[in-house]
Amino acid sequence: MDIFEKCHKFEDADKAKEQGFYPYFYPVGSAEDTEVIVDGKKKIMLGSNNYLGLTTHPKIKEAAKKAIDEYGTGSCGSRFLNGTLDIHIELEKELAKFVKKEAALVFSTGYQTNLGIMSALLGKNDVVVLDKWDHASIVDGTRLGFAQVMRFRHNDMDHLRKILDKIPKEKGILIVVDGVFSMEGDIAKLPELVEIKKEYGARLMIDDAHSIGVLGPNGAGTADYFNMFDEVDLIMCTFSKSFASLGGFVAGDAKVIDYIKHFGRPMIFSASLPPAMVAAARAALEIIKTDKKRREHLWKVAKMWQDGLRNMGFDIGDTQTPIVPIIIGDDQKTFYFWKALMDAGVYTNPVITPAVPPGRQLLRTSIMATHTEEQIQKALHITGEIGRKMGIVK
Ligand SMILES: Cc1ncc(COP(=O)(O)O)c(C=O)c1O
Repeated sequence: MDIFEKCHKFEDADKAKEQGFYPYFYPVGSAEDTEVIVDGKKKIMLGSNNYLGLTTHPKIKEAAKKAIDEYGTGSCGSRFLNGTLDIHIELEKELAKFVKKEAALVFSTGYQTNLGIMSALLGKNDVVVLDKWDHASIVDGTRLGFAQVMRFRHNDMDHLRKILDKIPKEKGILIVVDGVFSMEGDIAKLPELVEIKKEYGARLMIDDAHSIGVLGPNGAGTADYFNMFDEVDLIMCTFSKSFASLGGFVAGDAKVIDYIKHFGRPMIFSASLPPAMVAAARAALEIIKTDKKRREHLWKVAKMWQDGLRNMGFDIGDTQTPIVPIIIGDDQKTFYFWKALMDAGVYTNPVITPAVPPGRQLLRTSIMATHTEEQIQKALHITGEIGRKMGIVK
């Protein structure tokens, strides 16, 4: 048996390309902004995680350029050895303060952050309990640990309790949920999760990749939204969304963060975040802390998009955030809708099984703080016309 045989037999992507319906790895020929250039044409961007629209902010670009001038382009080593710069430490202090924790630790991507947390914390005597809709990086992280993995139905607190009831008392338990769920934009039930974690003596971790910068009076994420910083044990986030950079961090008690620092494999065996990305994340954090108007506008245009779609009869699930799914419920229809929107000048992301459960195939749309009301109105008009033509709405 040739190990490459499966590669030669894999034809799904080629077939989709031949039919003109291949939506992945689609090159964008401009900055990730509210409008992007695709195939030489302008599209309204409704598919980026650039929630605060900071990737083109002059202060952030300037900070990144300055860091290159001062520190060069790469760190050329892991945090464990030569790759820790003084600006990593500064950023960590600023982040810990922002999310009201004793300490924070910066990784080179959000994905690696989750791998790092899980590989360090999950021992043989532990159980990790995940929401079924948790991000893939959390699931992959559990594969680097030695704990038993259990999963509860999405946001179903009764099912979570049933699962916890089965776990022997002597086991260590970590419950992990996304603060805002990445595909459907709904928010974790933090008050109930906190009650449950106390009842069962578990620890609670929130993946705030889609929440920090967006949720809460200070933009500090899910714990800020519910005013429950002390009750969440670990807060994790990525810099690849609202922070307009790359990298990620975890924040919590100093002793726990120190342990992850010494046992998280991506911290030790992968190179650290380059200076330009550190500086961009720091500059973005400053804007998140000070520019409340940006967040207010994000919510205004997100609400306009949600209301507009709902009023036309689209199923947008239980979203409460700028992530707005348009649920289609069928693979082929989802691709057709995606293609028609793209051809008409609206960029979205099609999501099919297994990324979502069967019946919940959707177009993932996401709004940015820099979208204008005119752009949202135009996108609504185009989406409505195509939706009616395809019989998705009346
Ligand atoms: C909920 C969640 N966690 C973690 C990650 C990983 O972050 P990154 O893309 O920065 O590696 C993502 C990214 O898609 C995410 O959506």
